[in-house]
Amino acid sequence: MSANLRVLFSAEQIAARVAELGREIRAAHPDQTLTVICVLKGSSLFMADLVRAIPGDVRLEFLGVASYHGGTSSSGAVQITQDLRASIEGQACLIVEDIVDTGLTMDYLLRTLAVRGPRSLRVVSLLDKPGNREIEVAVDYVGFTIPDEFVVGYGLDLGELYRNLPYVAVYVP
Ligand code: IMP
Repeated sequence: MSANLRVLFSAEQIAARVAELGREIRAAHPDQTLTVICVLKGSSLFMADLVRAIPGDVRLEFLGVASYHGGTSSSGAVQITQDLRASIEGQACLIVEDIVDTGLTMDYLLRTLAVRGPRSLRVVSLLDKPGNREIEVAVDYVGFTIPDEFVVGYGLDLGELYRNLPYVAVYVP
C-alpha cells in the first residue's frame, strides 16, 4: 500500500498550518460564536483538529455531500446526502472542506447555504487545487495549494480507503 504513496505534507506540517489557520479564523470573527460546518466525510479529521485551534465559542454542524463516487475524477454532480440539523440564520458560519478541485462542490454549497440567511459565510479548505478549477469560487482560507494530482490521507480517500493516514500523500497509481 505505502509503495503507491508519496508524502506531500507530514503530520507535523499539517499541525503547524492548522494552528495558524485557527488563529487567523478567530481573528476574523472576534467575539462571535462560530458555526463550523464539516463537509463529510473528507473534512472530518481536518475539522476535529481545526476547531481545537480556534479559541472561543464554536458550534459543530455536519453536512453530507456526494460529488465523487469512488474514483479519481469528478462525476460533476453534487448532492446533499445529509443536511444540517440546525438553522444557520443569523450565524457566523465557516464551511470546512478537505479540498477544492473543480470548485463545483463548493459553488453548490455556497449557493445552497447562502439562501438560509447566515450572518456571514466563509470557507476554509485544507487543500486547494486551482489548476483544475471549472468554476470560480471564493476560498477564504487555504491550508496548502497543490498541483493537479490526486491526493489521499488526513481525511481524503480513494474508494473510502486512506482517510486514516496522518499525512497527505500523492496517490501514484
Ligand atoms: P470539486 O467539486 O471538484 O471541487 O471536488 C470536491 C471534492 O472532490 C472534495 O471534497 C473531495 O471529496 C473530492 N476530491 C477532489 N480532489 C481530490 C483528491 O485529490 N483526493 C481525494 N478527493 C478529492
